[in-house]
This record gives sequence, C-alpha cells and structure tokens, in this order.
Amino acid sequence: MNAFATGVGRAHAALFGWLALMAIVAPASALGDVSGLSKMDFGKTKDGQAVELYTLKNGKITVKIATYGATVVSIEAPDKNGHVDDVTLGFDSLEGYLGEHPYFGATVGRVANRIAKGKFTLDGKDYSLAINNPPNTLHGGVKGFNRVVWKAEPVQSPAGPSVRMTYVSPDGQEGYPGKMTTSVTFTVTANDELRIEYKATTDKATPINLSNHTYFNLGGGSSDSSILDHELTLAASHYTPVDDTLIPTGAIAPVVGTPVDFTKATSIGARIAAMTGDPGGYDHNFALDSKTGALAFGARVYDPKTGRVLEMTTTEPGVQFYSGNFLDGTNVGKKGRVYKKHHGLCLEAQHFPDSIHHANFPNAVLKPGETYTQTTVYKFSTR
Ligand code: GLA
Repeated sequence: MNAFATGVGRAHAALFGWLALMAIVAPASALGDVSGLSKMDFGKTKDGQAVELYTLKNGKITVKIATYGATVVSIEAPDKNGHVDDVTLGFDSLEGYLGEHPYFGATVGRVANRIAKGKFTLDGKDYSLAINNPPNTLHGGVKGFNRVVWKAEPVQSPAGPSVRMTYVSPDGQEGYPGKMTTSVTFTVTANDELRIEYKATTDKATPINLSNHTYFNLGGGSSDSSILDHELTLAASHYTPVDDTLIPTGAIAPVVGTPVDFTKATSIGARIAAMTGDPGGYDHNFALDSKTGALAFGARVYDPKTGRVLEMTTTEPGVQFYSGNFLDGTNVGKKGRVYKKHHGLCLEAQHFPDSIHHANFPNAVLKPGETYTQTTVYKFSTR
C-alpha cells in the first residue's frame, strides 16, 4: 500500500515537475498557455483578411485589442463604487473600424502626428507623402499602421497576459524610405495597467514616431457627457506652440501663465474657451519634463463623477493632449453612442510633431542597425 502510494506520489511529482518546466520553457504557442488571454474572430477586411480580437484580463481591468490597426477596442475599468464600464471610444464591431473614423484606439505610424506639407529630405533625398490632412501629412498617411492587419502572437510574460503584434512596412510604403519591422506588445498587469511596448528596426534611415490613439472618457459608456469636467495634470512645464495648420513653430515655450498650463490638476473645460480658432480646444504636444528616456510620469486624468483615475507614464519625450475637438457627431459608436465634440480625450505619447524639420527637437529618425523602443503605460485606479 505504502509502496503503491509512494509510486503514485513519484508519478505526480514527475508530472508536476514536467508541467512546471513546460510553463517556464514552452513558447506561448497555444492560447491555453497564457492565463487571462483569449481570442475570437472579429470578422474580415474588405479584401478578405481575417481579423482577430484578443481579450486580456488581469487585476480589475479587461482590455480588448484587434489585429486590425493593432487597435485598443475597449478598456473596462471599475468606478469608485465598483461599477465596471468601458472607458474608451470606438465601435462594437469591425465594420465601424473599417469605415471612416478619427483613429479610435489605433496604433499610429510610421509617423504619428503631422509632417509639414508632406515633404522631407533625408540623406540627401527628397520624399513626398500623401497630404491627407491638408496642407500636411497626418498619422502615417492614407493607409497608415492603423489601416493594416497585424500578425499577433500570445506571449508568456510574468507581468500578465500579453499579446505581441507585428507588422512589416515595405520600403516606399506611403512614401517612406526603408523596410521597417515593427512590434507592439500589449500587456495587462495585475496593477490594473495596460502596458504598450514598441520596437522597430529599418533597413534605410526613416522618420519614425509610433503612438496609440485611444480616446478616453472616464465617465464610461453609460455617460454621454463630454470630458470637459475631467481634471488633467501634465508633467510638462513646456509645450510646442503651433501655427494654424497645427505644425509646430519650432519654439519650445513655457506653459506658465497660459491656458495650456496643466502642471497642477485643472479641469479641461476651465480655460478651453481661450483655445480659439477652428475647431478650438486642446491639440498640442507637451514637452515632458523628464528627459532621461526612462519610464516617467507624464499625465493624470481624474473624473470627479466616477472617481476613475487614469495615469500615463512613458519613455517618450512628448505627449499630444487632444480634447476631441474634431468629433462632431458623425461617428456613431458603441451601443449607439453619438460621439460629439469633447466626448473623448487622447494622450498620445510621442516624439514631437514634425521633428524631421526641427533640429532642436529630440531625434525622430531611425537608422539601420538601431532599434527604436518605447514603453507607455496607462494605469487605472479610483479615488
Ligand atoms: C491627433 C491630431 C488631431 C486630430 C486627431 C484625429 O490627435 O493631433 O489634430 O487629427 O489626431 O482626428
């Protein structure tokens, strides 16, 4: 009896040992290997490419990411009473993402933000890009990284469920030089964070600026109100003023004494009337105070109604704070919500817009042999 029991014990020990070893060394080739991760079909693009939707669940938050545009489709987070709701703008199905929309949740590249007049010179060669935001190029052109299907693979990460999306942008795509290989890894940690890690390499020098364009409304899906009551803090004592086509003038100006001073928590609506012009509101790149390139606090948003807090940390030198000024009710999103002006805000971690034309801005050219990296973390909590 004893011997039998011991034999079973040994068999169990051997089995557990083997399973433990598998957990450490096995590539996360099967979804079952990654706890908190699941996948479903999200439909097909117009040219028949299959799109997948990944769900990453950890701590108190659940994040859905589509392989079309490496797009953050939803982030569900609790409010101060524990009521869970989606705090992002977007659509219930792939159909919406395939249609016209202002980059809801998308990964933007190869160059997020604007390049003046869609022209630049690099290594003595002139390049012309599509003018998709006259008179400039915006967010990588007509078919940017937000409009392609990424290849996804689940990743076994100690931090939590994780999916890596990869896209190879051919030489000359959208007018940019060099074949650029990009990966974006999304991880949801036990600390209620969505961590986004970017990597890219190229075979010719190319401008690069990768970002994520999620629109947040901490009021959640049930609220159809604007984000003007949200309080914003930015770790930025400087910003890059723009001309009336939203191209930086080249100055890196102090925010003190201006309506773009968010160094202390201030409601977004408090001074927005001073942001005149068409369409008015905030759409500015802030030069973050941390200059180390290490992960540092960039922004905090607090919604007094629901108590939700969103904190962004990043390795990037800048963040575009965009108060959803171009939302005009034409996009009908999740659960039939009509997205009107200021119904969402973006915190796009980035290099400065139009860096290719400003030698005084941090370098945004990637060369062969170099690896571009970026980490940006969005953390959710309540108070
Ligand atoms: C960025 C830009 C805005 C606008 C949106 C998309 O945030 O800075 O001007 O183009 O993308 O509508």
